[in-house]
Amino acid sequence: MLFYSCSLAARLVVVQLPAQMEVRAIVVGLLWLGSAQFIEEINNFEMVKQKSIMAKKKYRPTYHISAPMGWLNNPAGFTFFQRQYHIFYQYHPYNGAWGHIQWGHAVSDDLVDWRHYPPAIIPRESYERQGCLTGTALVQNNYMTIFYTGTYTIGNVTKRNQNVAISSDGIIFQKYLYNPIIKDPPAIDMDFRNPKVWRNRNMWYMLCGMKTELRLGALGLYSSRDMFNWHYNGTVAQSYGDMGYIWECPDFFEIDGTHLLILSVRGIQSDGFRFRNLYQTGYMIGSFSYRTGRFNEDFEVSTATFNELDYGHDFYATQTMLSRDGRRLMIAWLGMWESTFMESANGWASMLTLVRELKLTDQGRLLMQPLKEIVELRSEVVEEAWYLPGESFSAGSKAFELLVNSTNAPNEVSIALEWTGGKYGIDFESRKGSITVNRGGEDGLRHADWIPSGNTVNMRIFVDCSSVEVFCGKGEVVFSSRIYPKGKIRVRVGGDTQVHILQYQLRRSVRYDNRIRKHLLKSRNKPLQPQPA
Ligand SMILES: *[C@@H]1O[C@H](CO)[C@@H](O)[C@H](O)[C@H]1NC(C)=O
Ligand SMILES: *[C@@H]1O[C@H](CO)[C@@H](O)[C@H](O)[C@H]1NC(C)=O
Ligand SMILES: *[C@@H]1O[C@H](CO)[C@@H](O)[C@H](O)[C@H]1NC(C)=O
Repeated sequence: MLFYSCSLAARLVVVQLPAQMEVRAIVVGLLWLGSAQFIEEINNFEMVKQKSIMAKKKYRPTYHISAPMGWLNNPAGFTFFQRQYHIFYQYHPYNGAWGHIQWGHAVSDDLVDWRHYPPAIIPRESYERQGCLTGTALVQNNYMTIFYTGTYTIGNVTKRNQNVAISSDGIIFQKYLYNPIIKDPPAIDMDFRNPKVWRNRNMWYMLCGMKTELRLGALGLYSSRDMFNWHYNGTVAQSYGDMGYIWECPDFFEIDGTHLLILSVRGIQSDGFRFRNLYQTGYMIGSFSYRTGRFNEDFEVSTATFNELDYGHDFYATQTMLSRDGRRLMIAWLGMWESTFMESANGWASMLTLVRELKLTDQGRLLMQPLKEIVELRSEVVEEAWYLPGESFSAGSKAFELLVNSTNAPNEVSIALEWTGGKYGIDFESRKGSITVNRGGEDGLRHADWIPSGNTVNMRIFVDCSSVEVFCGKGEVVFSSRIYPKGKIRVRVGGDTQVHILQYQLRRSVRYDNRIRKHLLKSRNKPLQPQPA
């Protein structure tokens, strides 16, 4: 069958996706990428670039991805396509606040140096008028396909649906003419979002985060033979009351034969030192059967089985992918809803985390370590010495890494980042078997149980202007938080144990791609040949 639309389209692109049962020809009309609009896109991007260069640099990270201008939240579509890594993110370019969400886009050859690309999808169609929300990217037959959630309102009702867009060059994306591919949630009072799509044998599977009719978080499974026609297979997990009112950004993958499910959840009550943030991202371990479309019988998502991934103040909505050499990589939003983004006064807000590598221990604990290639960011060694409690030194720059090692069997290890009028403290206490960070303010404390292996405390601390990420031991505990230091940072050693500190200055790694404009103009002129079905 051959579908096409030529009414408004400046040109047509025929994308052939051999499905399992039949060869289906999908015609994607370039409804919005008419020549005039295309030029407008390129000019917009140039304008954003100019504005961003002129904008105040205060608090702006240099090696973490932030939006060129405006607001950023959840990452999306982390993938590898045509020799490049791609990351997308929820993006509102017009000011430092959430609004009509697009998919911002950055690419990298090595996961260390990133270049801003023009936004991949912008809400223009009726089914996505209020935004294009987070989803998955995957690569099939030389095309990158993205699955995303459209949102729009009718009167006072917010509707959501699932959609597809396709790209042959990883820059320009075309929306499927017959979007939405899933028009409505399975029941009238349900909500669904953030499709996670993957393939297993002959089938495509989709997990969607859901809110049930009873305002409980749930996870819905869909299946498809061709990526376009989806069957609902029911909920595979749901909250029984303690696990919040909506589940978002599901991720599902395998490490060494074990299935992991990651969820971002709204509405879990805090419980002592657990679940201190407004919303939480955590993981569970299970075994998923493709025959029944269900997890193992005793699989249950509850606050008892849900393990928080990161113990800091600002961490939500993860995306993972498999690197070319088989490592499970993760990136997340280094932010939290309803927190104060001091930088939004300067026309931008928020950033993504460093890319992390995930490992699973035999005890079923997920470890997060900084991407191994991140050492490429190190420029010069600024400090290297043993420090006694009470000693301090100036950090020397706003973007740096500290490697902290204690002597054997430490009692208390304490490091503080201090600035005029504030500080961020890290305290390990062996007696309590715990590590605590405190960034000050009303809700400054975060805490995790931690017994370091090998009897010494090892930490890697990454500071990037207005963020800090602390990786403890082999990644058993990680804290990610925003901080707003005034002036220079001093590093002070406290506790009662001397520590060895190695400090590297880290270079800038997120920039503009000066060739992108030329590339876009060139691809605009390239004739695209419709292929026969
Ligand atoms: C939405 O609008 C309808 C009709 O105006 C009204 O009956 C209903 O109560 C409204 N619902 C909410 C949640 O405001
Ligand atoms: C999902 O539903 C489809 C259509 O009803 C069915 O063919 C398929 O076997 C189901 N898959 C699983 C895993 O239950
Ligand atoms: C710190 O500890 C780590 C892990 O044990 C080790 O690899 C590293 O060489 C140590 N660094 C220093 C400077 O002692």
